[in-house]
Amino acid sequence: MLGNFMYCNPTRIYFGENALDGLKKELPKYGKNVLLVYGGGSIKKNGIYDDVVAILKACGKEITEDPGVMPNPTVDKLYEGCARAKTCKADLILAVGGGSVCDYAKAVSVSTYCDEDPWEKYYLHMEDVDNEIIPVGCVLTMVGTGSEMNGGSVITNPHQKLKIGHVFGDNVFPKFSILNPTYTMTLPKYQMVSGIFDIMSHILEQYFSGEDDNTSDYVMEGLLRSLIHSSKIAVENPNDYEARSNIMWIATWALNTFVAKGKATDWEVHMIGPSIGAYTNATHGMTLAAVSIPYYKFILPYGVAKFKRFATEVWGVDPTGKTDREVAEEGLAEMEAYMRSLGLVMHISEFGVTEDMFEGIADGTFLNEGGYKVLTHDDVISILKASM
Ligand code: NZQ
Ligand code: ZN
Repeated sequence: MLGNFMYCNPTRIYFGENALDGLKKELPKYGKNVLLVYGGGSIKKNGIYDDVVAILKACGKEITEDPGVMPNPTVDKLYEGCARAKTCKADLILAVGGGSVCDYAKAVSVSTYCDEDPWEKYYLHMEDVDNEIIPVGCVLTMVGTGSEMNGGSVITNPHQKLKIGHVFGDNVFPKFSILNPTYTMTLPKYQMVSGIFDIMSHILEQYFSGEDDNTSDYVMEGLLRSLIHSSKIAVENPNDYEARSNIMWIATWALNTFVAKGKATDWEVHMIGPSIGAYTNATHGMTLAAVSIPYYKFILPYGVAKFKRFATEVWGVDPTGKTDREVAEEGLAEMEAYMRSLGLVMHISEFGVTEDMFEGIADGTFLNEGGYKVLTHDDVISILKASM
């Protein structure tokens, strides 16, 4: 484990079919005013809303609702949420939904008492929080982002065509998260597989960096094998509790800072994908899927040894009689076949991307230095072309 690091994850997790009981244990720790944040209404159809509200009422809470958080939450919605949180003097923000709802709740939590414009302060200038932070709790209904146990908060500014994530410190992590795998069973298949690929991408972004012998890489290989195994089962039978619960737990560990320890980390797919999202409002995991194979083919020559290890340890490729490069490429071919079997979107043209958007998408793509190749603006354009 190279380098020096601090590890602390303050989020308390309640996991399993009875996880919502945890909400009763957590609520007494906070004041009476709760801002209840949710999305477009899925929680009303599947009954989660009723169960949560019943517990809030039983615990004597004053509820102010903040519904309508859209996938890829916008800066305008953020301003609206801050006004609501301020008016109701929220003691706790309870997010009930997927990554968008959890991310938004964190953005409201740090922005409500921010004197400056939060979009400029946190997203354009990447400044730290120096004002009051409203505590956040999550009841997760969609799996993939890891937002339930991290400080990530991604906000889209459709006016500026920018989608930017700020990774806040552990003072902004949810105080608690309720993870009941049965809540994810009502997800449409498109969302389920998008979330599965989001998980895979989070792991790969951290795995494809560094050349040292690092325990985090072994952990990630295990997580990837479990994800591939369980996702194949879940696609066949979305109601398989064992598979769905494994996927939920892998998602949390893929992006709760643990496997990043000792790693440089890449995150370039997560720079290109969201920039596409800013132009098209496409589903997050699908944007990653559509650029991943072209991206990894592009950087493979700069990290052959790791791609070979990925092929043998994750996909079970037999290296006998093959060059390192051949083994590495076979690994990517296995990954591509798996992605197609899941039904992921493999072409950015399907989101409505046209060639005249390439320059803008590349301009909105931050160029990171932690992976095997530091991309140039033109490299991003080449990858976009190959992703059409
Ligand atoms: O809005 P409702 O009606 O609830 O419907 C949602 C939404 O349309 C639906 N859904 C959620 N749970 C459901 C359900 N439908 C039926 N049954 C359920 N149980 O699913 C749709 C998508 O939800 P959303 O929250 O947008 O998906 P996801 O969890 O993928 O979150 C995406 C957002 O998270 C950001 C993405 O950029 C994007 O903005 N990310 C956050 C990260 C983090 N915090 O660390 C990292 C990720 O890389 C990602 O960037
Ligand atoms: Zn992601």
